Amino acid sequence: FLPPTSSGAGGGSTAKDELGNNVSVTKFLDSHNVGARVLVQGLKGDPTYVVVESKEAIGDYGINAICTHLGCVVPWNAAENKFKCPCHGSQYNATGKVVRGPAPRSLALSHVAVEEDKILITPWTEKDFRTGEEAWWA
Ligand code: FES
Repeated sequence: FLPPTSSGAGGGSTAKDELGNNVSVTKFLDSHNVGARVLVQGLKGDPTYVVVESKEAIGDYGINAICTHLGCVVPWNAAENKFKCPCHGSQYNATGKVVRGPAPRSLALSHVAVEEDKILITPWTEKDFRTGEEAWWA
């Protein structure tokens, strides 16, 4: 038995809002400022940040919001342009690369694409573009 998936792409899913509805890219871009990182439900329902690149485009990567220290959800701090974990003070830059411990690793990545006004999220298994290292989460 295979449960139905919301997308045919291998291992992918469409980004959902807090109510479980598909996120509309048009509305998403209308309602967020350029540079914002906005939480959606991504792969396996993981809280995932989508990047507002411009008034017309979202970034092609998503940032998993789960702190690599002990798993708190890390809020985006727009004023400081970084993610700051409220639990033990870890910090990540705007792409989710760890810049202060105790978190041992950068936030996990996923691929983000737009398909028929929906946000399609698929697994990131290649090297981490921020560090040039293998993807620890893959
Ligand atoms: Fe984020 Fe500990 S869980 S710093």
